[in-house]
Amino acid sequence: MPTLNLPFLGHGGDYNPDQWREYPEILNEDIRLMQLASCNLMSLGIFAWSALEPEEGRYDFDWLEDVLDRLHAAGVSAFLATPSGARPAWMSEKYPEVLRVRPDGGRNLHGGRHNHCYTSPTYRGFVNHMNAALAQRFGHHPAVVGWHISNEFGGECHCELCQAAFRDYLKEEYGTLDALNRAWWTGFWSHTYTDWSQLHSPTPIGETSVHGLNLAWQRFVTRQTADFIRAEAAPLRELSPDLPVTTNLMELYGQLNYFELAKEIDFASYDSYPRWGGPDEEWTAVGAAFNYDLMRCLKQRPFALMESTPSQVNWQEVCKLKKPGMHLLSSLQAVAHGADTVQYFQWRKSRGCSEKFHGAVVDHAGHEHTRTFRDVQAVGEALKKLSGVLGTMPEAPVALICDTENRWALEDCQGPRRDLQYIETVLEHYRALSRRGVNIDVIDETRDFSGYRLVAAPMLYMLRPGVAERLDEYVKNGGTLVCTAFTGRVDRDDLCFLGGFPGPLREVLGVWCEETDGLYDGEANGIAMNGRTYACSTLCDLIHAETAQVLGAYTADFYAGRPCVTRNAFGKGAACYVATRPDAAFLDDFYRDLLDGLGVRPLVDNLPAGVQATRRGDALFVMNFARRPVALSLPAGIDALTGEKVGGRTEIEVNGIRVIRV
Ligand code: GLA
Ligand code: ZN
Repeated sequence: MPTLNLPFLGHGGDYNPDQWREYPEILNEDIRLMQLASCNLMSLGIFAWSALEPEEGRYDFDWLEDVLDRLHAAGVSAFLATPSGARPAWMSEKYPEVLRVRPDGGRNLHGGRHNHCYTSPTYRGFVNHMNAALAQRFGHHPAVVGWHISNEFGGECHCELCQAAFRDYLKEEYGTLDALNRAWWTGFWSHTYTDWSQLHSPTPIGETSVHGLNLAWQRFVTRQTADFIRAEAAPLRELSPDLPVTTNLMELYGQLNYFELAKEIDFASYDSYPRWGGPDEEWTAVGAAFNYDLMRCLKQRPFALMESTPSQVNWQEVCKLKKPGMHLLSSLQAVAHGADTVQYFQWRKSRGCSEKFHGAVVDHAGHEHTRTFRDVQAVGEALKKLSGVLGTMPEAPVALICDTENRWALEDCQGPRRDLQYIETVLEHYRALSRRGVNIDVIDETRDFSGYRLVAAPMLYMLRPGVAERLDEYVKNGGTLVCTAFTGRVDRDDLCFLGGFPGPLREVLGVWCEETDGLYDGEANGIAMNGRTYACSTLCDLIHAETAQVLGAYTADFYAGRPCVTRNAFGKGAACYVATRPDAAFLDDFYRDLLDGLGVRPLVDNLPAGVQATRRGDALFVMNFARRPVALSLPAGIDALTGEKVGGRTEIEVNGIRVIRV
C-alpha cells in the first residue's frame, strides 16, 4: 500500500487556479510567491469540476496540466483532488437523482456543495469517469504526490435509492426480520416490522424512537460513504498504484465513524480550525492536540494537516486574527503530534462568493508585504529545520478511548439527563493527561489496547461484542483501566445489559451500579479523597464496591459517604471506576498519582498550566499556550529552530515554542 511519503515536511495549501484562469499575471505571481514562502505542496482542483468538465462528456484538462507543469518546474508538488465535493449545474439539471434528499423526503435544489447522493449510480458513474480520466492524464505527472478524494465527506441522503441500499444493509446485518425485531426491541410502542419494505431511515416526520434503527442508520451512512470513497479510489488505484489516497477529515466530526472510513484511505488528512484567541486558549490547544492525536491514530501513521488558516477563518461567530507567534506555534503543534505537512485553506483569497474574506497566504492586496505572508514564510523556514521528524511517530504510553458509535448511542440516549456531555468529558480526561506531559493516543474501542500502560475509557456506555473481553484481558495482563460514570450499559444494538451495570465490565471493575442520579447544570456534588474534597457534576452513579477497594466517597445528597472512586486489583493489573464527572483538579491529581504509580514520567516536570509537551522522534516540543511568559526547567539539548543550546531553567515567551533535540 502506498502512503504519505514525502521527501520533505510539506508546506502549502488549497490552490484554486481554476478561479483565476482569466488572470494569467496572477498565476505567474502565484509561483513566485510560493517560492518566496517556501511552499512545496499544493492541493489542486478540489472544487474544479465545472472547469474540468464544462459540459457533459467534454473534459478540459489543459489548464490543469499547464498549472501542474509550472508547479513542477518550480519545485512544488501537488495533491490532486477529485472534484466530487461539488458538481456542475448542468449535471443537477439533467440528472436530478444526483441531488440529496432530506430526512423529510424533499429533494434539494442545486447549490452549495457536499450535497450529492452517495448511492446514485448516475453520480457514481460521473465520478468514476472523471477520476479515471484524471488518473489517466495525471496519475504519473511528476508533480502529483497523492490523491485528495473529494472534500470533507459528510451528511446523508434519504432518497429511495438510499432507502433500498439501507434495507439491503439491514438484511445483510440481521439476516431475518425476527432477528432485527429482537435486536431493536420493536415490541416497544408496537413498532414490530412485518416486511422489509416497512423499514425507512429515521426521520422527524416518522420514526426516531427506535434506538437500534437510529444506530443502524448511522452505521449505514458511514458504510455508504466508505463505499463511495472506495468507488472513487478504484480507478485512481488502478491507474496510478503508487500514489496514496486520502480524504480530508473534520474536527470531532460526529456523523461518520472515522475509524471505519480510515480503512479506505492510505493516510489521514485533517482540516484544523481551532478558535485561537478565543475565551480559553488552553482549552483550544487541548482540543487541537486531541484531534491531531486522533488523526495520527486513525492509520497509526503520520498524517497531513491538509487545511488550517494562516490568519483567520470567516465562519466562526467571531473570527480572530492569529496573534504574533501563534501561526508558528499552532502549525508546529500539529507537527509535534504527527503531521508531516502544514497546509492552508487557502493559498489565495477568492475574489467573490462566500469565502472571499477567509484567511489566505495571499491577500486581495496580492503581494508578499503582509504580516500573514511573513508568518507563513517563518513556518516554511521552520519546517526545513524540522525535517528530522519526517515519517516518525510520537510514541504514547497512554491511550484515551473516544468511540464514535458510543457517542452516537450516548447522544441518542434519553436520561438520566438530556445532554450527557460525552465529548466534553473525554476532552476533560485528555486535558488532565496532557497537563501531565505525556504523549497520548486517541483510539476507539475496536483498537488493540495491549501496548499501553494506561487506558482511559470515559463513559464507555456501549460495549460492542468482544470489547469487554478485550478490556478484561488487558487488565489481567497488567494494564490499568479507568472507567467513569454511565459505563457498560448497552450492547451494540443499544439493548441494556441485564443482570447489573456495568454489564460485562462488572467483574473487572469490581463494582455494581444500582442507580444513576442526573445533576442540573451548575449543580454539584463532591468527592472526598486523600484528605481533599473535589467537585463533581452531571452524573452520579450510586455504586456498590463488590471486589473493588474504595478510594473516594461522595460528600453530599442522600448518597454522601457512598463510594465514588474505586480501584479493583484484577490479574496483574487494576481497573479504576470514577462514578461521576469530576472537576479538573480531581482529574489532574488522579492521573498524576496513577501515572506516577505506573512509573510513567512526564516529558517535562512541573509543566505550567497552558504549556504542552510532546515528543516525536528525537524532538521534544514544548509549547506555550498560556498567554503569558512561563518559566520551566527543560532537558538539555539543541534547539532545532535556533541551533542554540538549551536546557535548565528556561523562559518561554507568549506563544513561544522550543523544539529540543534530546
Ligand atoms: C473546510 C473546507 C474548505 C473551506 C474551509 C474554510 O475545511 O474543506 O473548502 O471551506 O473549510 O475554513
Ligand atoms: Zn440518496
